[in-house]
Amino acid sequence: MQILITGGAGFIGSHVVRKLVNTYSEYHIYNLDALTYAGNLENLKDIDKAPNYTFLKGDIVDAEFVKQIFEKYRFDGVIHLAAESHVDRSITDPLAFVHTNIIGTVNLLNAARDLWKEDFSNKRFYHVSTDEVYGSLGAEGLFTETTAYDPNSPYSASKASSDHFVRAYGETYGLPYVVSNCSNNYGPNHFPEKLIPLFINNIINNKPLPVYGDGKYTRDWLYVKDHADAIDLVFHKGSNHETYNIGGFNEWQNIDLVKLLCQQMDQKLGRSEGTSEKLITYVKDRPGHDLRYAIDASKINSELGWKPSVTFEEGLARTIDWYLENETWLNNVTSGDYQAYYEEMYS
Ligand code: NAD
Ligand code: TYD
Repeated sequence: MQILITGGAGFIGSHVVRKLVNTYSEYHIYNLDALTYAGNLENLKDIDKAPNYTFLKGDIVDAEFVKQIFEKYRFDGVIHLAAESHVDRSITDPLAFVHTNIIGTVNLLNAARDLWKEDFSNKRFYHVSTDEVYGSLGAEGLFTETTAYDPNSPYSASKASSDHFVRAYGETYGLPYVVSNCSNNYGPNHFPEKLIPLFINNIINNKPLPVYGDGKYTRDWLYVKDHADAIDLVFHKGSNHETYNIGGFNEWQNIDLVKLLCQQMDQKLGRSEGTSEKLITYVKDRPGHDLRYAIDASKINSELGWKPSVTFEEGLARTIDWYLENETWLNNVTSGDYQAYYEEMYS
């Protein structure tokens, strides 16, 4: 089996690449990544010499390049994670999200369809998506696989569009596909523009913790390795033309999560209780900020037997330990362009 994973140098992608390279010695795993600001080969340095692994640097927006690599390596399966993934960046530059998330996905779909069209058997296109396509929940209810799409940010609109294209290629050309929509991930290798790693980095450096609005927004958090396990399972055992929601059964209001993070950081850094909480600063809200996301993951649980294995307290502790032990990684990704981004976002 020749398997293409896109976006494998990013946060979730690197955990998926590692898992498949280490689990399936009979597969060859190709990791296609453009190495944008979010892509980092340091994330994979423990497996980059594995005989069943090849890194391909390239941009999924380049249709000719995508077509050539499909013809050259003749992939049997695709796990597509490459994307622009940060909501705040999508508010500043929506077109970047249209290019990578929509056009990039359609380029991959075209290449897969053209390579496989004579015989779709034993082929699979797996599109990794987000719960943000469903929009925002009120105080009650959960997103199920049949919840209507209602995206509110340019990021979620671009992911919703790509999900629709994948489904349309299934209906129109018979392309065998699966889609999963997952809640917020956290864990090692997370780029420090997202809430948890940004706040860990700021606590280490005694910088303000910029909580948007009143901090009463709710997210459902899943440890990234549990997501990688779910992706492995859906890729191998999911049914064609199906969607699976993946979530942590783990809702937190931002402000409560931030307080827990502050407590754990104070303990690990040997600071007195309450030190990090003093850094909490309420700042201007994100435009179009979705109030609440929460996933009903009962389908993947009952059909494929998946459930999260790590509690939030344990996952958060492991995550903090990883950042404290990987100071060089953190320093490398927060030097250079990161400073300019931070200034523009938070000054
Ligand atoms: P990330 O931003 O950490 O990584 C994205 C990767 O894609 C990077 O390595 C980047 O270099 C690469 N990439 C970007 N544009 C590219 C292009 N044009 N061509 C080739 N490679 C390109 O993202 P992530 O958080 O790991 O998310 C991965 C996927 O999972 C995304 O599709 C995202 O929508 C989805 N997802 C993320 C979360 C989450 O909480 N992070 C939750 C649910 C779903
Ligand atoms: P984020 O990690 O960007 O994920 P998403 O927007 O995809 O859910 O944000 C998680 C929550 O944290 C969201 O409600 C926005 C909020 N947030 C802040 O309050 N301050 C910040 O600096 C960031 C990055 C996020």
